[in-house]
Amino acid sequence: MTVYQATASAPVNIACIKYWGKRDTKLILPTNSSLSVTLDQDHLRSTTTSRADASFSKDRLWLNGKEEEIKEGGRMSTCIREMKRLRKEEVEDKNPNEPKLSTFNVHICSHNNFPTAAGLASSASGFAALVSSLANLYALPVSASDLSLIARQGSGSACRSLFGGFVAWQMGSNPTGVDSLAVQVAEQSHWPDIHALICVVSDDKKGTSSTSGMQRTVETSALLQHRIKEVVPRRMEEISKAIMERDFDAFARVTMADSNQFHAVALDTEPPIFYMNDVSRAIIGLIVEYNRVGVEEGRGYRAAYTYDAGPNAVIYAPKENVKEIVELVVSYFPQREGSFKDNFGLFGGGQVVGRIP
Ligand code: DP6
Repeated sequence: MTVYQATASAPVNIACIKYWGKRDTKLILPTNSSLSVTLDQDHLRSTTTSRADASFSKDRLWLNGKEEEIKEGGRMSTCIREMKRLRKEEVEDKNPNEPKLSTFNVHICSHNNFPTAAGLASSASGFAALVSSLANLYALPVSASDLSLIARQGSGSACRSLFGGFVAWQMGSNPTGVDSLAVQVAEQSHWPDIHALICVVSDDKKGTSSTSGMQRTVETSALLQHRIKEVVPRRMEEISKAIMERDFDAFARVTMADSNQFHAVALDTEPPIFYMNDVSRAIIGLIVEYNRVGVEEGRGYRAAYTYDAGPNAVIYAPKENVKEIVELVVSYFPQREGSFKDNFGLFGGGQVVGRIP
């Protein structure tokens, strides 16, 4: 008896130009393009195994060992349905000898290799790994950009986790979403010197989810209109150029400006949304001061902070500065007693997960 099973993994990505706002909530079409860095393949990733079997009575899903309901018409069921459709169109219709896996139900099992308690968003890596594992299971002859069209419908930011390195999600203009996909701007090996330092400020579940927060921003923020029309198109150009030229100073300026503006549109939402807390803001102060000294010494910007829909800081920096930045952060924000080893362990590749009381 043949077993139809495949495994794939996908890392977390952290946006430098933020996705915040949908023009179509069902298809998950964004109001602006975005750009992110996918973290190291070996760290902070989701790994997903999918199996198709004629005897399975329904599609089922386990997340970190616990079964979760697959809601009818929900994002998970959309992704599974779309992957089955691709299997039928790309494989079974073209070659009638292929087993009709698109008619079988699937069992899907997904794990994150980072502590859930670290408070890091896992929907991006999770949906990217899901789509990749089904693509392997179904032996789909399609590109990562094609798969990004489906991962996008699981969670917008997931489309970017299908590539490593520096990745753009092009917003597209077609109402069907066929051109709203992820493309690789540059491989990680183009600029391996950039490292990401993750400072876990709080591992509480966030107050306002990205999905509902961005919808409220679209409905109420006038500043968002300025951002999507005037600011993001220019920044997408600027950051792509900075990446191609390995210009950290320009990369840092655009990244921090875009994080600031994302939190400004959150504040411009009615009622306002606050994602950062006092510790987040204090870390911004630290990096601003660190960069001021860098500029004074003629070395330019040496680190860039960015914050998603929560208080945790991600600091991008060239490798040579990582040790100094860790020491700086730890000296101002002493780690919780006994937590250094567990919560501030080097994940390798210069990625650090720290917990700040
Ligand atoms: C602030 O991708 O989680 O991290 O599409 O509704 O699932 P949905 O939203 P999601 O939003 C991510 C928002 C962000 C910025 C970013 O990653 O670009």
